[in-house]
Amino acid sequence: MKKLSVRAARDVGAVGQQVIVQGWVRTRRDSKGGFSFLEVNDGSCLSNLQIVADANLPNYETEIKHLSAGCSVSVQGEVKPSGGQGQVTELQASEIIVHGWADPEEYPLQKKRHTLEKLREWAHLRPRTNTMGAVMRVRNRICRSIHDFFQEQDFLYIHTPIITASDCEGAGAMFRVTTLDPAKVPRTAQGAVDFEQDFFGRPAYLTVSGQLEGEIYATALGKIYTFGPTFRAENSNTSRHLAEFWMVEPEVAFNELTDNMELAESFLKRIVSDVLTYCQEDMQFFHERIDNTVLASLQVIVDKKFQRLSYTESIEVLEQSGEKFEYPVSWGSDLQAEHERFLTEKHLQAPVILYDYPAAIKPFYMKLNDAESSERRTVRAMDVLVPRVGEIIGGSQREDRLDVLTTRMEEQGLRAEDYWWYLDLRKFGSVPHSGFGLGLERMVQAVTGMANIRDVIPFPRTPGSAEF
Ligand code: 4AD
Ligand code: MG
Repeated sequence: MKKLSVRAARDVGAVGQQVIVQGWVRTRRDSKGGFSFLEVNDGSCLSNLQIVADANLPNYETEIKHLSAGCSVSVQGEVKPSGGQGQVTELQASEIIVHGWADPEEYPLQKKRHTLEKLREWAHLRPRTNTMGAVMRVRNRICRSIHDFFQEQDFLYIHTPIITASDCEGAGAMFRVTTLDPAKVPRTAQGAVDFEQDFFGRPAYLTVSGQLEGEIYATALGKIYTFGPTFRAENSNTSRHLAEFWMVEPEVAFNELTDNMELAESFLKRIVSDVLTYCQEDMQFFHERIDNTVLASLQVIVDKKFQRLSYTESIEVLEQSGEKFEYPVSWGSDLQAEHERFLTEKHLQAPVILYDYPAAIKPFYMKLNDAESSERRTVRAMDVLVPRVGEIIGGSQREDRLDVLTTRMEEQGLRAEDYWWYLDLRKFGSVPHSGFGLGLERMVQAVTGMANIRDVIPFPRTPGSAEF
């Protein structure tokens, strides 16, 4: 007997077929006419399949009439046309096997709607809700489009290490990886921790970005991308920060900053247009239940040319906006989320690429521009901001001049000997090159309209929280 997903069985083409459908009961409704309706979901789509269970089924009184939300079943039967609303098919059951019961006194996901906060406490059950199911299907589609986009253009997918000894962003927000016993830490004669006795013979961390290793491969193989988990030990409890998140990082030899902007723009447009094409049912759900501006804002991403605004211009816009910001802005200050959101949501109402940021607020690896003046040094950085999320992409053209890079590292207190291999790339066949990082979860937020980043990843890791 052919097994069909709920999605396939809901299709008119399945009518007349004898099939098995397996999933979890959402609701049961008994009709006076001596039969029951079950709504079954298997995660293949948002909608349920209606099962018609006749009273003459052998386990009707003993089992079927006791089914409740959360029970798992296999249903065999014929797919029939349905007169019911919101469906063209239903499954007329000839056999229903109950695999697992879910005591309605205990099962938390009853008909009553729970808040997203409450659902986080049940991270093991929340994938059975409509919202999390829709989020995960869209997240999956985004990941697939990411690979499609790069593979179609002959980028190589390179796996950069998760354990690393270098701090790419220089922000010091790294998780240490060690096998030393915290209760008896070995010490050097000077009293410092003796990392020579640690697993790697040196301090090691979870990576904050695969970029530096990505550059190694881009400057040999041309066009590469990494896509993997990254880690930040920043103590920021916001709706846009995770301690563990997924990042996509393309890196392209011979690309300058303007090429990098083009790549980022076409990349985001492709992902969004794929989601609009392939996830229509889920997107309709987000539009109706989560945020009714989401579809319009995605259409803007697809249709509108992204604005390009230099950091200096954006500071002028912010200073002249008359807006009351919590953090005041002036040339040289880092932009806060409130400033970024003002620019993309209110000022332009469209995605914007900010570029040429002050050197002092950016990492060592970004290419230095010819200075306007000694106090206005900028680097070839770019951030892509989108409405509702703010910064979704951060990237830059990389410093490819050995002497300038060495000086920048000194200024930022980095030891050249720790990055000797990175400097070698500038000694041997150095080329202009550029890349960026897209935070996957921020992308899922932008696409779905989900307000909190904890609700777009299966198991969020945030300060003080690592259950499940
Ligand atoms: O701007 P970031 O820090 O850039 C880099 O790491 C570069 N090395 C990337 C590159 O050029 N290859 O991070 C890139 C993106 C951000 O724009 C944001 O979308 C996401 O990663 N991101 C986070 N997402 C969730 N939680 C966090 N704590 C994040 N920090 C950054
Ligand atoms: Mg950034």
